[in-house]
Amino acid sequence: MADEQVETEVVRAPKGTHDVLWPESSRWEALVAAFAVRARRAGFGLTLTPVFEDARLFRRGIGGQSDVVNKEMYEFTDRDGRPLALRPEGTAPIVRAFVQNHPPVPWKAWYVTPAFRYEQPQAGRYRQHHQLGVEVLGTEDPDLDVEVIALAAGFYADLGLRRIDLAVNSMGCAEDRPPYVTALTAFLSEHAAELCDEHRERFSINPLRVLDCKRPPCRAVTENAPRLVDFLDESCTAHFARVRAGLEALGVGHRLEPRLVRGLDYYTRTTFEFAAEALTTAQNAVGGGGRYDGLAEAIGGDPTPGIGFGIGIERLLMACDAEGCFAIHPPPAEAFVIDFTGGEEARDLVDELRRTGLTALRAYDGRSPKSQMKQADRSGARFAVIIGPEELANGVVTLRPLREDGDEQTVTRRDIATHLSDLSSKGRSEG
Ligand code: HAM
Repeated sequence: MADEQVETEVVRAPKGTHDVLWPESSRWEALVAAFAVRARRAGFGLTLTPVFEDARLFRRGIGGQSDVVNKEMYEFTDRDGRPLALRPEGTAPIVRAFVQNHPPVPWKAWYVTPAFRYEQPQAGRYRQHHQLGVEVLGTEDPDLDVEVIALAAGFYADLGLRRIDLAVNSMGCAEDRPPYVTALTAFLSEHAAELCDEHRERFSINPLRVLDCKRPPCRAVTENAPRLVDFLDESCTAHFARVRAGLEALGVGHRLEPRLVRGLDYYTRTTFEFAAEALTTAQNAVGGGGRYDGLAEAIGGDPTPGIGFGIGIERLLMACDAEGCFAIHPPPAEAFVIDFTGGEEARDLVDELRRTGLTALRAYDGRSPKSQMKQADRSGARFAVIIGPEELANGVVTLRPLREDGDEQTVTRRDIATHLSDLSSKGRSEG
């Protein structure tokens, strides 16, 4: 009995995942297209890598201490016992593809990808989310950091977003980190009692994580913590100064956030995060990234500097909703063909109209004239193209405007495609 109940239950999408249906998906189409244009202009090419990878890639690349790897990664073994993981992010796979394929540098890759993290779902936080991103391998030129940050900032502006806060920091290089961690640990020890429950006992395991903690007690303590930017060596200081000067020169507004360390362990030097001020939810980071000059080496490649960012599509669209921008409406179909003569005319005519580049819809299953008319109205199409027995006998169709004023017309069957094409281009030039 219990088994029977299970079998009749509706199978639902897993917790923390969601479907994107038409017409909402038309915004996704437009978003990816807009990003592709920006990325292509800056010399990036679309790059596709497998959605699952050898789990060691993420363990070594992102860092086994990070929550993303330690607590949130979807790991499994395949039927041959290989350790695999669904990608929790897009950077490590791109760097792996670089190391494996040896493309000429600088190598500029853009991507759109699902990412999987076993997190507690809440508004703006999912177990499968989607990212748009870019990565550049092969140069440590700070002007590239500026280019990459400006690309993201320009993309937000393209969508109409105005309230985006850009925070930047420098994580320095491997040599800068130990003296800083010592100073930070000493500072946190003095204030251990004031830290949040999670970090009070555990701050010494990875003191940098405390800087990332969003809970008020930790925020209050770290306000006055030693700053990583004050521990940078000469070359990292000069690198960061050049990045900030470049952002100024290009008019990319930003502020220094000395506590910005980000959640993945591969970052070196420049790090940045974009937050949507219009989002009132806790999850308001709509993108982030930085340099990872040691990542290629960590996964077995030659030492190769790199930088990139990832933008969360779901959160980005939430931010657009909050600012009332990027409300894409899919263009209406030009024609809905209504056939009262058995369906062959609808079959042939939609094909003919589509060949001329028009969007043409129809009903199926031998629906009644009334039901076909209802569907045509609901579809949002501009015109109904009606073929009844009389039209068929006379070699004509009846053209009825559905969304605008105007009279019905009789058009010869032979000319209907050209006629609708003309109306459609007229509609476009007037629209
Ligand atoms: P990340 O900050 O972990 O960085 O993720 C990038 C963006 O993905 C976030 O700013 C956020 O918009 C979105 N995001 C992350 N987790 C979730 C989630 N659970 N649900 C919804 N949206 C989410 C990275 O992943 C790096 N790979 C970025 C990068 C590229 N750094 C260098 N290159």
